[in-house]
Amino acid sequence: MASSIFLLFALFLLQPSFSTANVHGISLLRPQLLSEPIQDTPTPFFEVTKPIELPRTKPCSSLILRHDFGYTYGKPPVFANYNPPSHCSFQVFSKIVLEWRATCKGRQFDRIFGVWLGGVELLRSCTAEPNANGIVWTVEKDITRYHSLLMTKQTLAVYLGNLVDKTYTGVYHVNITLHFYPAEKNLNHYESNLGNSIPGYHSWADLILPISRNLPLNDGLWFEIKNSTDSQSKEFKIPRNAYRAVLEVYISFHENDEFWYLNPPDEYITANSLTDTPGNGPFREVVVSLDGAIVGAIWPFTVVYTGGFEPLLWRPITGIGSFNLPTYDIEITPFLGNILDGMTHKLMFNVTNALNVWFIDANLHLWLDKQSPITEGKLLKHISLPSVVSLVSDFKDLNGTFLTKASRSISSSGWVKSSYGNIKTHSVQDLYYSNSMVMGSDGNAQTVNQTIHFNETVHAQIPSSFIYMTKSQKIFLIFLYFGISDQGDGTHLSVVNLTLGMKEKKELGELWRSSLENLQNGQGYRIMKNDSAVGALGKTQQVYDYDDGKLCYFRNVSSSEYKIVYDKVRNTCAKKTESGLEFGLGRLWLSALDGIL
Ligand SMILES: *[C@@H]1O[C@H](CO)[C@@H](O)[C@H](O)[C@H]1NC(C)=O
Ligand SMILES: *[C@@H]1O[C@H](CO)[C@@H](O)[C@H](O)[C@H]1NC(C)=O
Ligand SMILES: *[C@@H]1O[C@H](CO)[C@@H](O)[C@H](O)[C@H]1NC(C)=O
Ligand SMILES: *[C@@H]1O[C@H](CO)[C@@H](O)[C@H](O)[C@H]1NC(C)=O
Ligand SMILES: *[C@@H]1O[C@H](CO)[C@@H](O)[C@H](O)[C@H]1NC(C)=O
Ligand SMILES: *[C@@H]1O[C@H](CO)[C@@H](O)[C@H](O)[C@H]1NC(C)=O
Ligand SMILES: *[C@@H]1O[C@H](CO)[C@@H](O)[C@H](O)[C@H]1NC(C)=O
Ligand SMILES: *[C@@H]1O[C@H](CO)[C@@H](O)[C@H](O)[C@H]1NC(C)=O
Ligand SMILES: *[C@@H]1O[C@H](CO)[C@@H](O)[C@H](O)[C@H]1NC(C)=O
Repeated sequence: MASSIFLLFALFLLQPSFSTANVHGISLLRPQLLSEPIQDTPTPFFEVTKPIELPRTKPCSSLILRHDFGYTYGKPPVFANYNPPSHCSFQVFSKIVLEWRATCKGRQFDRIFGVWLGGVELLRSCTAEPNANGIVWTVEKDITRYHSLLMTKQTLAVYLGNLVDKTYTGVYHVNITLHFYPAEKNLNHYESNLGNSIPGYHSWADLILPISRNLPLNDGLWFEIKNSTDSQSKEFKIPRNAYRAVLEVYISFHENDEFWYLNPPDEYITANSLTDTPGNGPFREVVVSLDGAIVGAIWPFTVVYTGGFEPLLWRPITGIGSFNLPTYDIEITPFLGNILDGMTHKLMFNVTNALNVWFIDANLHLWLDKQSPITEGKLLKHISLPSVVSLVSDFKDLNGTFLTKASRSISSSGWVKSSYGNIKTHSVQDLYYSNSMVMGSDGNAQTVNQTIHFNETVHAQIPSSFIYMTKSQKIFLIFLYFGISDQGDGTHLSVVNLTLGMKEKKELGELWRSSLENLQNGQGYRIMKNDSAVGALGKTQQVYDYDDGKLCYFRNVSSSEYKIVYDKVRNTCAKKTESGLEFGLGRLWLSALDGIL
């Protein structure tokens, strides 16, 4: 009896899971959306983010793909031949921007998609969900770091698995345009300050190797990881004169793990015979290994796709990271000594506790010695202990509390001798995780409060001369209340309250530091009568605050029922004291949380 109530709850909870960023299409019905305003022009959807810092020069632009994504699910990606921008009147580029612009009209699920150039992923994203009036959205991404790749002929591949039928009518009409900006002096305030350091140490890599699936294939070029013992890997060879290596990892989670942070422990599922509820508890980590040695772990940000929890929360302000999923860099330089032998090596991805399905691939960015065909290196030290995960649970039938905590540290150091000197690199990742989950109302309400702390430092040094030091401290936060109650007469009310946040501090030695506080609060409800929605509402408030001393961007914006309630933007830096930069934003963050929690 009890379990059937939970099943109902689970069905409501999971219903968006199967329909959002949906891979296997339309196995479960999606409630009809209501009260959509009638407008003449398509509604613009957007993700709140700082503008890309651009030179004041005019770009040279080219449309590289125009395609209508209709019945594309399970088909090969859409291809185009990419030619470098030899037609531009200038050939030195300081900034390169990818612009994805799409329109859609009708009904459709949110679909995950990827854009690859020569197998190197440039963008992972999720589509906005259309309505009868039509919607339009643009994603702009700074792709300057792929400069070397963009200067050669390549195959562009785009996979967006969509299905169209009588009900789900939306076809995604997409244009991808690249904008090449000519060099402008003093644009990059920190790079230009670096005077006597290694040529190109801070700028883009000389070569980028795809760690993705090879064409031809159906679906995306990402690897699919389906369970905790599944692992996917790729063999590769690097040039023998590399002196720096960074692995950039792309990650998205779907189906049974779309809401991995809400998955209850197995003991709870078993005790309550919840056969349809995804489990394995709420802790996940992506583990990356090189020839069997763990080089890095990623505890990902909880991106919520545009159909997640309550689709009306994301119209028109979309969830943090959903239009441009975060990627994660792992410094591989300490391990270079192991792979400079001209032989084949293997990078592998695992996901601890994974359920079906994770989409993961990576790009290996390599810096090459322009004065020598050979460099040499040695791994000096590598410490990687398994994650320490603890679970405290206390439950009776469908009510209960579960506290999951985890921590991990991975560090490595090694040297690489090149024409630029003998550089010693030390890389450290420190991670901390906490998830508290409360099941109440006999399984019909769930409260989850999850925090991830993700610290990384990379330190590179030539004896007696300092080169490079980056530090990043990230905090990923999600607080969710989801409840469903029986209102009698076949009517159910579901309520969702959400806080989603990403906080990041970065520094590049003494030269540059930035801080970002990005926080969303959302409230939604939906009234279901006999499995169809008869009423629904979603509203979202967001505060975004970025400051790197030179570029500042603050936005305080809210939407409700497709309308913008308020929108304040400031893009000048307020005068701050040194400690203001450090701690002032923390107070803002806490006070914003106070409001909702
Ligand atoms: C794509 O580009 C074409 C040609 O410039 C234009 O007519 C069309 O409206 C564009 N579509 C989108 C979605 O921007
Ligand atoms: C990844 O998973 C495979 C298969 O279970 C296992 O053999 C391997 O040891 C795992 N690697 C790591 C680094 O956990
Ligand atoms: C895990 O996934 C792999 C790859 O799909 C599959 O071969 C294997 O049987 C699965 N293992 C379990 C325990 O389900
Ligand atoms: C991350 O760094 C900050 C500042 O140094 C520190 O307070 C925090 O404990 C670190 N977190 C982890 C997980 O190491
Ligand atoms: C579970 O908690 C609810 C209140 O949230 C209470 O009404 C119910 O009796 C509890 N069930 C059990 C089995 O303790
Ligand atoms: C959810 O948010 C609404 C509106 O802010 C509030 O009235 C309600 O108390 C919240 N419910 C829970 C369980 O947090
Ligand atoms: C719900 O469906 C049942 C069975 O199909 C029907 O008897 C009942 O009248 C419906 N209730 C409402 C409120 O539509
Ligand atoms: C954002 O704007 C709302 C409405 O004007 C206001 O109540 C709130 O304090 C503002 N938040 C910040 C951080 O400025
Ligand atoms: C969520 O967890 C964090 C850290 O674990 C804690 O500081 C905060 O008070 C919690 N929030 C709520 C509403 O429980």
